[in-house]
Amino acid sequence: MSTHEAANQALVIAIDGPAAAGKGTLARRLAAALGLPYLDTGLLYRAVGRRVLDLGADPAEPDAAAAAARSLVPEDLARGDLRGPAADAAAASVASIPAVRAALLEFQRGFATASGAVLDGRDIGTVIFPDAKVKLFVTATLPARARRRWAELAGKGTEVPLARVEADMRARDAMDAARLAAPLRPAADAVCLDTTALDPDAVFAQAMAAVRAARP
Ligand code: CDP
Repeated sequence: MSTHEAANQALVIAIDGPAAAGKGTLARRLAAALGLPYLDTGLLYRAVGRRVLDLGADPAEPDAAAAAARSLVPEDLARGDLRGPAADAAAASVASIPAVRAALLEFQRGFATASGAVLDGRDIGTVIFPDAKVKLFVTATLPARARRRWAELAGKGTEVPLARVEADMRARDAMDAARLAAPLRPAADAVCLDTTALDPDAVFAQAMAAVRAARP
């Protein structure tokens, strides 16, 4: 590929990491700063889980979950009930089913084809865009992440004890990391950002430095 072609290649920024590490906040800011579209891929798994729950089926049941993934429509991503403990658990269940992941793969790749994109999730840098120019693995300690999610829920009027939020998060992270299909792990060439002691501005500054380093 010529230098000219390389420069014009659509920029894909892959952001992965565990729950409530700050991926979404960072992804939105990067997308706005760089003029790229943003896809929160967690919403895809959340919407599939919701569809299965709506049918009264079990999100761990492969056929029901795969059928829900294949029938997903863009409006599903705008539903108001994709967050909260039940949606979290259903998303993690359907996400461990290979046929669900396969059904969602092309949509994710297609999203970035025209003009590049920022995508956040668990397997963006490892499976969806293994050749992404910029890969960030965003993490923080479990207590810090649980506290953030607890504050987020409280802000929306959902009162859940902090210990419960932390226990649920520990279980979901373990499930995401242990599953056979696209487990949560940093890509070998990812830049790791630990946000435990960083505010959103500091995280953004470090991420922009990684973007600049990848596009001299
Ligand atoms: O917002 P939070 O970090 O808690 O979760 P999310 O990013 O919305 O993802 C919800 C769940 O979907 C995760 O726990 C994963 O099980 C699954 N997921 C996935 O498997 N792959 C992705 N690319 C994104 C989410």
